Amino acid sequence: MARVTPSAGLLKIGESVSSMEMIRAPELPPFDYQPQPYPGPSAEEVLRLRREFLNPGIFLYYKRPLMIVEGKAQYVFDEHGRRYLDALGGIVTISVGHCHPDILEAARRQNELLQHATTIYLHPNIAEYAQKLAAKMPGDLKVCYFVNSGSEANDLALLMARAYTGNYDVVALRNSYHGGNASGMGLTAHRTWKFNVPHSFGVHHAIAPDPYRGAWGRDNPRAGENYAADVRNLIEHATSGKVAGFIAESIQGVGGCVVFPNNYLKHAYEHVRAAGGVCIADEVQTGFGRTGTHYWGFETQGVVPEIVTMAKGIGNGAPLGAVVTTRKIAATIAQRTHFNTFGGNPAVCAQGVAVLEVIEREKLQANALRIGNQIFAGLERLKAKHSLIGDVRGKGLLLGIELVKDRATKEPATAECAHLLESCRDMGLLLGKGGLYGQTIRFSPPMCLHEQDANFLLDVLDRAFSAV
Ligand SMILES: Cc1ncc(COP(=O)(O)O)c(C=O)c1O
Repeated sequence: MARVTPSAGLLKIGESVSSMEMIRAPELPPFDYQPQPYPGPSAEEVLRLRREFLNPGIFLYYKRPLMIVEGKAQYVFDEHGRRYLDALGGIVTISVGHCHPDILEAARRQNELLQHATTIYLHPNIAEYAQKLAAKMPGDLKVCYFVNSGSEANDLALLMARAYTGNYDVVALRNSYHGGNASGMGLTAHRTWKFNVPHSFGVHHAIAPDPYRGAWGRDNPRAGENYAADVRNLIEHATSGKVAGFIAESIQGVGGCVVFPNNYLKHAYEHVRAAGGVCIADEVQTGFGRTGTHYWGFETQGVVPEIVTMAKGIGNGAPLGAVVTTRKIAATIAQRTHFNTFGGNPAVCAQGVAVLEVIEREKLQANALRIGNQIFAGLERLKAKHSLIGDVRGKGLLLGIELVKDRATKEPATAECAHLLESCRDMGLLLGKGGLYGQTIRFSPPMCLHEQDANFLLDVLDRAFSAV
């Protein structure tokens, strides 16, 4: 593999870059866009300010931290104007593309008229947006609540499940991520994201239906049913036999893009409903067409939940989250007032409407399926070539490859995964990381990705794996 030293223009923060060898990068696909000159402080200065004045708990991805100052469609630019293919999409948040002109225009128009007033007054945006979002939902899922994040959405969903059923206990899944606030952390089952403080009140975690690492693999036609039996078992042993509900991501994202075996949710929902509970689908990563075949991730499992939570891609970067539920459940919550200062903000709702329209008009769900399948097939070819890849999985443009030191023992290849992310970044490709051991590379690019971008992504990965 040919190697070159990094160009003098690259950042040198922390580690000495000059001593680091880089792999020769393939050309990024042509892109007719000129980033603006960046007039702000250097990355070194921003890092210094961050270290002095910011929450020390926030983490950076790369040894030489990357500063991103501009974005357009599927690309982002650093302060030197260097372009990167954003295959992480702001952690699964840029659904329709960075700075999409329609989203910008919707925000601009509304910001010039009225930025904020709250739901104590009427405003058309929140009402019309709720109507449009409800139209995307199956069954009786017709009542929308707007919040600011996925954590808030899950917190509200938990409250709804408990208030509606009168029950307390909740079943969540191991390897899940549902947020960083108190209740989100309680639902989450990943030591990385949990503080050593009291949490998880009434939350019980069932076995993760992980066909790669779990007891039943993809070759077992009863895997879904078998994993779901643990939900029933948990309800029988860890609760009074009555539960408020069950929550699951439709594909576990932070956990490393774990796709459940067919029929898992169908059987799990049956056990939960038999115990008096309602089912909550966390669509924060899987919603809005990203899985390609369906608009909502739960539809890939043939189920309809009673409560759906959304965030991230719903706003393409706007601080927007939502909970959608049935009229019956909503009526219970109406026993008390519900208020959220920014939830349903006119400017954010305008962006939410624009996101729905762009997904539709630009046929981004179909694109997620087509390009996702192209990448998936390419990743399978890489797996045949590079023994470090233990598993390829995902749907549409929510994909993952799990790295293992040894395919037989499945020992997580954590250091190799981190190293690969670094060398892909050096070649102009930004990727995500997931899994309990940071052993899974995650792909969740904006859904406007092109075929040439997919080829670039696969080429970069091939070179990076060849050099490990
Ligand atoms: C599946 C899922 N649910 C909930 C959340 C929490 O969302 P937020 O960070 O907007 O609070 C996340 C965030 O990564 C997520 O991936």
